[in-house]
Amino acid sequence: MQEKIVVTGGAGFIGSFLCEKLVEQGFDVTVLDNLSTGKPENLEKIKDKIRFVQADITVREQIDPVFSGARYVFHLAALSYVGESVQRPSDYNRINIDGTLNVLQAAKAQGVQRVIFPSTCIVYGDTSSVPVPETEPLNPNTPYGFTKAAGEWYCRMFNDLHGLQTVCVRIFNAYGPRMRQRVISKFALRMLNGESPLVNGNGKQKRDLIYVSDIVDGLLCGLKISPQQCGKTYNIGTGTSHRLTEVVDAINSELGTHTPIEFRPAVAGEAEEMTASTKTAEKVLGFKAKVGLREGIHQTMEWFRQHPNRN
Ligand SMILES: NC(=O)c1ccc[n+]([C@@H]2O[C@H](COP(=O)([O-])OP(=O)(O)OC[C@H]3O[C@@H](n4cnc5c(N)ncnc54)[C@H](O)[C@@H]3O)[C@@H](O)[C@H]2O)c1
Repeated sequence: MQEKIVVTGGAGFIGSFLCEKLVEQGFDVTVLDNLSTGKPENLEKIKDKIRFVQADITVREQIDPVFSGARYVFHLAALSYVGESVQRPSDYNRINIDGTLNVLQAAKAQGVQRVIFPSTCIVYGDTSSVPVPETEPLNPNTPYGFTKAAGEWYCRMFNDLHGLQTVCVRIFNAYGPRMRQRVISKFALRMLNGESPLVNGNGKQKRDLIYVSDIVDGLLCGLKISPQQCGKTYNIGTGTSHRLTEVVDAINSELGTHTPIEFRPAVAGEAEEMTASTKTAEKVLGFKAKVGLREGIHQTMEWFRQHPNRN
């Protein structure tokens, strides 16, 4: 019999790719999503092979029936935009903290064995450690970062106090097809229209950009590790960073254009460089990112060419 897996937030950018891979691997996949930022068309390829439940993680009664009989839960449902979180901290608190607590409580009540939770490098705040190891003290400086750090702590507590196995992965800067409202998708859409990409600051800030198929591989490692390695957090990055100006160069080269950057004032509190230390993930999860920037940008731009109105 196929093992049941629930993916909260499965209609979103990362979640939809994760679901495709889980279906390919023969799991019985159920998506729980309220479609607030996710889109049914993200699941188009697998819509006949999964169960989709439109439900909200802030309503506990809506979660339990979906988790019933599941062995694993990937909990991706969240609000995940740094700038928006500054404007809407209560919504971020309610969905990312209360919602995550609901998911953990429902998982425990329904006898789920393991929950895998994607956190974010934003929990490190404006750190000067390069590369940043998992042991770096957390210093979130935005509501989004704070709510994901709280989610990690709740996961660890449920692992240690309630015997619900949990695995947290801190994803660095995700990109790929179906992404929305983030730096690379904004660059892509403007540059496809011949408009200058808008860059805050001097463009020299460096980011560890990780392609979505690598993120999916990193999340799947959460299924394989031993119970002794649960209750911990692992960085999921490439270990290499690129300046935003390099990203613009890569898009220009992909499009065969020479569109110049329009520079904007720097944003206070933005880290100069954020690069993952990948040692622990390599050693414990056996995880290593495979897709380089050029290839990832090629795949991403192919998709945006075909979906010019998606952001
Ligand atoms: N994209 C990144 O760069 C990145 C980096 C680190 C971590 N993450 C984490 O990965 C996860 C997925 O991110 P994404 O980029 O795919 O975002 P996304 O917005 O594309 O996906 C989130 C999904 O959650 C759903 N959702 C939101 N609130 C919900 C609620 N109350 N109940 C049920 N469903 C709800 C949305 O409809 C959407 O389908 C998030 O937990 C995010 O914090 C993302």
